[in-house]
Amino acid sequence: MKIILSGIQPSGALHLGNYFGAMQSAIDLQSQGQALYFIADYHALTSVTKADDLRRYTFDVAAGFLACGLDPARTILFRQSDVPQVHELAWLLSVVTPMGLLERAHSYKDKIAQGAETSHGLFAYPVLMAADILLYNSDLVPVGKDQKQHLEIARDIAQKFNDRFGPVFKLPEPVIREATAIVPGVDGRKMSKSYGNTLELFGEDKALEKRIMGIPTDSTPVADPKPVEGSILAQLMKTVATPAQYESYTARMQAGGVGYGDLKKELAAVIKAFLAPFKEKYQALKEHPEKVEAILADGANRARALAAPVLQKARRATGLSL
Ligand code: ADP
Ligand code: TRP
Repeated sequence: MKIILSGIQPSGALHLGNYFGAMQSAIDLQSQGQALYFIADYHALTSVTKADDLRRYTFDVAAGFLACGLDPARTILFRQSDVPQVHELAWLLSVVTPMGLLERAHSYKDKIAQGAETSHGLFAYPVLMAADILLYNSDLVPVGKDQKQHLEIARDIAQKFNDRFGPVFKLPEPVIREATAIVPGVDGRKMSKSYGNTLELFGEDKALEKRIMGIPTDSTPVADPKPVEGSILAQLMKTVATPAQYESYTARMQAGGVGYGDLKKELAAVIKAFLAPFKEKYQALKEHPEKVEAILADGANRARALAAPVLQKARRATGLSL
């Protein structure tokens, strides 16, 4: 059975971009093998600086995954930091990781270019990510395009380790979601928590409506046809609506006679209806956080059981263990 592994950082409230770009396909993949999905809280510490925020976002990702359809009976859902053995492996990997490999990492260079403070954690991020992947003998790693290079680094590190110490690690195959459309935010740029342009999965309805009503539009008069090409409203509609709903929406835009205010209200209604069943499950979990904790504790036990023999093999190969 294939091991499918992916992680998501608890570094902000989940939004529609996360759902359509990452969570939906992870949930769809559950039936293809043994999936392990974890909340990358150690990684999030490279950007989240307040303990309460980290706790809140961690719960949000765990409950969010469950609310959106992750089946904890089949899939192992766990918190990265519940398996601290990953750091022992990260060290074993770091001794075979050339500095140049990390110096070339785009995400590190981008963060520095954006003015982020440098830290060893940020620099070593790909080594910990390689450890996440290799610790569970992962076959497939579904990630967004932005993580492609990190996957290549993980494969390079695995190969370097095997070259030095013998064949311990399987080389993981990335499953890159090239086809996934970038979900636009309310300002038309990529939806991202760092731009403050998100539509949250589990936020207040009022806030969602306000954000949608604030989407910039052109000044076409009510009576006139509205352009579909380049319209943020149409792109968001396409993301959440059924094809039939989308067709009807864009047909009405093109026909004219409907103002942007009404088009926005309709978009808000469709997004709210789409999110309603997820929200209901999320709320139920929020009222019983102990249920989420129990699922994470069970996930951690199952993850540790898979990790132990792999780590032992790596320790033996290096000479740390007999
Ligand atoms: P953010 O950009 O809000 O910081 P993350 O980088 O934490 O989001 O996102 C985690 C994953 O969610 C990404 O690797 C990517 O696959 C997906 N994702 C995030 N935003 C979008 C988006 N606007 N469109 C499509 N996928 C996205
Ligand atoms: N770096 C990934 C991201 O920001 C999260 C992550 C951490 C991850 N460890 C991983 C993804 C291992 C896949 C496999 O999206």
